[in-house]
Amino acid sequence: MSSSGIIGESRVNDPVTIVIFGATGDLTHRKLIPALYIAFIQDMLPGKFTIVGFARRDYDDAAFQGMMAESIKEFSRIPTEDEAVERFVKHIHYHKGDISSDAAYDELRYKFEDVERFPENRLFYLSIIPDLFETAVRSLKRSRLVDAPGGKQWSRVVIEKPFGRDLESAISLNNTLLQYLDESQIYRIDHYLGKETVQNILSFRFANAIFEPVFNRSYVDHIQITAAETVGMEKGRGGYYDEYGALRDMVTNHLLQLLCLVTMEAPGDLSAESIRNEKVKVLNAMKLDVRKNISDAVCRGQYGGGMDETGKEIKGYLDEDRINPDSDTDTFTAMRLSINNWRWAGVPILLRTGKRMAKKTTEVAVQFKVPPLQLFQQVQCEDDVCDITRIKPNTLIFRIQPNEGIFLKVGTKRPGMRFVVEDVKMDFSYSGKWRNSLPEAYERLLLDTLHGDSTLFTRSDEVAAEWNVVQPILDNLDRLKPYSYEPGEWGAPEADWLFHGVEGKWRNK
Ligand SMILES: NC(=O)c1ccc[n+]([C@@H]2O[C@H](COP(=O)([O-])OP(=O)(O)OC[C@H]3O[C@@H](n4cnc5c(N)ncnc54)[C@H](OP(=O)(O)O)[C@@H]3O)[C@@H](O)[C@H]2O)c1
Repeated sequence: MSSSGIIGESRVNDPVTIVIFGATGDLTHRKLIPALYIAFIQDMLPGKFTIVGFARRDYDDAAFQGMMAESIKEFSRIPTEDEAVERFVKHIHYHKGDISSDAAYDELRYKFEDVERFPENRLFYLSIIPDLFETAVRSLKRSRLVDAPGGKQWSRVVIEKPFGRDLESAISLNNTLLQYLDESQIYRIDHYLGKETVQNILSFRFANAIFEPVFNRSYVDHIQITAAETVGMEKGRGGYYDEYGALRDMVTNHLLQLLCLVTMEAPGDLSAESIRNEKVKVLNAMKLDVRKNISDAVCRGQYGGGMDETGKEIKGYLDEDRINPDSDTDTFTAMRLSINNWRWAGVPILLRTGKRMAKKTTEVAVQFKVPPLQLFQQVQCEDDVCDITRIKPNTLIFRIQPNEGIFLKVGTKRPGMRFVVEDVKMDFSYSGKWRNSLPEAYERLLLDTLHGDSTLFTRSDEVAAEWNVVQPILDNLDRLKPYSYEPGEWGAPEADWLFHGVEGKWRNK
């Protein structure tokens, strides 16, 4: 396994065959193929590579290539050139088959005997529903399409989230995968970890001596993490979402991963194992901050119907397509956690995520304590109108999306005769400094899998530790019925209760 760490921008050398299971699906169209195209035009893919799309629908190579060319033109983040798209799609083949049929793998194996066209290093990307993971991995092993590690050629398997639906199923999925593959061959992808700002949390903390000394219980009042979406059930998503909901879809991967990066100890080096060891340690120290009842620490919500600002009707969750009309699935979940270690003991950690919220935003806000002595008055001004307020604490915000960046809110003297302080933002935005150069998360992560760098992928013990944090919620769903909330608001207002005893409130901006 490579330990090239977080930064790796070199070209992949090993010739490779990339097999995408679920090649006719949404993820392949919108993300995977456009990401591979960009890697290709940036000369990051090896000189020899072949992509094989695997799915049940009836296509030949030419039809599939045409469809992929259209997807690239529609979804590439940079303008495409017809000639480059044509050159790229010539590397793509289609293999019609059912994941449950042994014959489909045997035919693939037979095809792969042509090692000139299909290099023997193989990456299998399972862009399919989780129910099919086990069948796919077992069949890959049975048909000898994956080789054990340590040989001349490598075989790797990328698994898409969700990694289970509770602690028990996550452990069972881990056990199944490990029956057929070595941990070093498994790449559990969490695309949040491919985002620049997310990786920047680590560099920001550990490359700058000024912040790390104050990242602890003596200086931090609380941490809040928000991942809010304005959309409801996008086309066709209802069935999947109703089975999983906000907690399973967002918290047990993206939000807890963000929290790990903000709260973990510095790793000894940037190798995949060192970073993941630290993440597991901090996950093992996290738990729901339950005082008397679990509802002190958790708030679940479900959006009702309403109107948008143009007067257009917005369907309530229960009226959406492919949703059980009696469903009590959460479209919003907020929780309060504590981290029981020397650094973070007593610091409230607040997480929330939801659909149909006021604004699309994902951010981590670290709010510091107010100074011990209030020497100054603080003013808050809008245009020329200023009000005296209480001294505002400093807040450090990692903006994950949109407008990726970092800003720090500090108090500064307002020009004039009086000593009054006003909040200003020291704002760094990626688009200001590196316009158009932010790679898509999937570009980064796909290249990492080809390099064999698993730093930004989730290890099996990490997955189990994440589920362990939220399992008490799943065990108490009957006591945590979702509150209804208006679309376009910040989720269920009852989530404000989670701030009991904390200096601050949700950042509804
Ligand atoms: N879409 C996203 O933005 C997104 C984001 C994060 C994670 N994910 C995860 O990525 C995975 C794929 O998502 P998706 O949105 O692309 O799903 P999707 O649009 O429903 O596509 C599923 C794919 O699986 C194929 N398939 C289903 N059953 C099959 C079988 N028995 N044999 C062979 N192929 C089969 C389908 O092709 P045929 O019908 O042609 O066989 C289709 O290509 C899921 O695990 C999802 O949770 C998706």
